[in-house]
Amino acid sequence: MFDVTDATGVTAADLNDVFRGDVYGERPIFSPETFATHVQTNDIDVRRSICLRDEEGGVAALALIGIREHRAWIGGFGVSPKYRRMGLGTKCLDGALRSVRRAGCGSIELEVLETNRGAIALYASHGFRDAGKLFVWQSSGGGLVNAPFPYTAFPEDAVRAGTMRIPACWQREDVSLRRQPGPFAIEQYETSWAILRQHAEVTRIVDVVAADDDVRHLFDRLIGYQPLLLVNEPAISNVSAELARRGWPPPRVQYRMIRSLE
Ligand SMILES: CC(C)(COP(=O)(O)OP(=O)(O)OC[C@H]1O[C@@H](n2cnc3c(N)ncnc32)[C@H](O)[C@@H]1OP(=O)(O)O)[C@@H](O)C(=O)NCCC(=O)NCCS
Repeated sequence: MFDVTDATGVTAADLNDVFRGDVYGERPIFSPETFATHVQTNDIDVRRSICLRDEEGGVAALALIGIREHRAWIGGFGVSPKYRRMGLGTKCLDGALRSVRRAGCGSIELEVLETNRGAIALYASHGFRDAGKLFVWQSSGGGLVNAPFPYTAFPEDAVRAGTMRIPACWQREDVSLRRQPGPFAIEQYETSWAILRQHAEVTRIVDVVAADDDVRHLFDRLIGYQPLLLVNEPAISNVSAELARRGWPPPRVQYRMIRSLE
């Protein structure tokens, strides 16, 4: 039997365990530090999140839920490998939907890898619909140069300049970007810009906004920061078109899925 609780006390190791398997591999995805950053930057509400616990109190299934005003996001979902295909994913997702309805949310969204057919089938059967493709791009070239990362705090001016853009997804909304740990660098060309952050052995493009005519020049300036990682860039954006043109390795593909709760 499994107890349904909130996610108070859940750790990075618990989340890593429910992600293990064919799709995400066996290596841990989160460290305690990156897990804490994930919770904090993305408004994960552990009290509204759902955890199914086994008789020993171990985490059998988990749905981490972020809430922003009347919108909800699933920011970590999975079932411990030994308990899969027993209906726990279904039970946990049902619990998550009940929880966000109680919180007064009108919609719930998530991102899922295109190769994760089992999870996509589960989400589709719970009313989630495809809301567009996102690409995870990583350049293969270069080694990290000693490019300066002069900003210790998030460069607010760049975000303000980009507020007209439509965020690609939850983790690229301004509120998430602003809370990322620094240091940061900015590269600009005319009115186009990219915000960069050093992240393990890669430079992460935290956000990028580029006018069609400038996108090539902007990326010429980013070459010195390689290898570069850009997560959740819309497949249809001019940036994705430019990276394909440059011959970056084929991106990993995610679907953004949304379900209305009205
Ligand atoms: C995806 C996942 C959460 C499903 O959990 P689960 O407890 O095994 O799911 P359930 O037993 O409730 O199955 C519900 C439905 O999901 C689908 N499904 C689940 N696993 C599947 C698989 N391996 N292949 C195909 N369909 C699958 C099926 O439609 C299934 O319904 P059915 O049993 O009537 O065929 C689980 O496999 C998992 O934790 N995977 C690793 C982490 C992950 O991918 N998380 C999602 C991140 S977006």
